[in-house]
Amino acid sequence: MGGVTAADAVIPVFADVDTGVDDAMALAYLFASADARVVGIASTAGNVPVDQVCANNLGLLELCGTSEIPVSKGSQRPLAIPLRTAEDTHGPEGIGYAQLPVGGGTLTDYDAAQAWVRAAREYPGELVGLAVGPLTNLALALRLEPALPRLLRRLVIMGGAFGYRGNTTPVAEWNVNVDPEAAAEVFSVWGAAWGLEPPAHLPIVLGLNLTENAVMTPSTLSRLAAAANSSTTPMSVLDDRGTRSAAANPLIRVLEDAMRFYFEFHFDQGEGYIAHLHDPLAAAVALDPDLVRYRQATVDVELTGTLTRGMTVPDWTGHWGRHLNARVGIDVDPGVFFERFIARVGPFAATLA
Ligand code: RIB
Ligand code: CA
Repeated sequence: MGGVTAADAVIPVFADVDTGVDDAMALAYLFASADARVVGIASTAGNVPVDQVCANNLGLLELCGTSEIPVSKGSQRPLAIPLRTAEDTHGPEGIGYAQLPVGGGTLTDYDAAQAWVRAAREYPGELVGLAVGPLTNLALALRLEPALPRLLRRLVIMGGAFGYRGNTTPVAEWNVNVDPEAAAEVFSVWGAAWGLEPPAHLPIVLGLNLTENAVMTPSTLSRLAAAANSSTTPMSVLDDRGTRSAAANPLIRVLEDAMRFYFEFHFDQGEGYIAHLHDPLAAAVALDPDLVRYRQATVDVELTGTLTRGMTVPDWTGHWGRHLNARVGIDVDPGVFFERFIARVGPFAATLA
């Protein structure tokens, strides 16, 4: 039997989340992945205020038996504008109809930006960063540690929309739109830092054009419960709103209650009784970039457009004469992603029964 190869090694991951229904599912995926070790979590204000994000993260860790993972609190607000939250999308507490246990863990005595830097310095060249909320704390971390781009092995950002409509304005995606200045700063700093590095180190940027291929349906969700050997509550748009899951498994029950709110939101948006799993797809890519096809670009963010503020603009062909700063996701096989999601999260949930 061969020794452990680099390919088999466990990947240290730092997750920056605005938990959030799909953020919670992304964290569950990482906890369920034998090839990942979450070494820190940054709580970023976004879907709900930062204190609620912290409570959701601590509660999810308690539920998943991973309370040893340090959770740090980020900025109360974006870099330059007031915070806008999305309780209509993710529920009043950010996790749909779900009830999480009160987390037994406590927040670190350092903030989220410092947590990014501490983790990168602890795992130089090994740490994979995953940012699936507004980029406020990543931007602050880059101000603290300009060498961060070279300390990280990989960065995956869920944000933006490339050749595709927005979900918050006609052209802007939520994470970028909450804090456009932070997104612009991250892309600018990365471009400058990466000007001298091989493109392989470019941040992976997964916009709505890619992540809206990850369409969760009630039948897929019931397959997850089966993989956890759990009872389930089949879901339909015909159900009374807010019907609670009777799943026996505690994690399946939370995910079903969270997803029902998310299904209802997407239905009300005219997208059908489905849900886009933006952040879990980004988490899967953080562990395996080969899940997605990419196109390199120089990405910038519109900050002053009356109609277009928050829009991510890709320069695919060098019009601006600036350094590349992104590998933009352009294609994915959602079936491969869902098979992997179920194959990992199902058995993990079963261990919590
Ligand atoms: O636009 C989708 C993104 O915004 C996801 O990260 C979701 O959690 C919300 O934060
Ligand atoms: Ca998110």
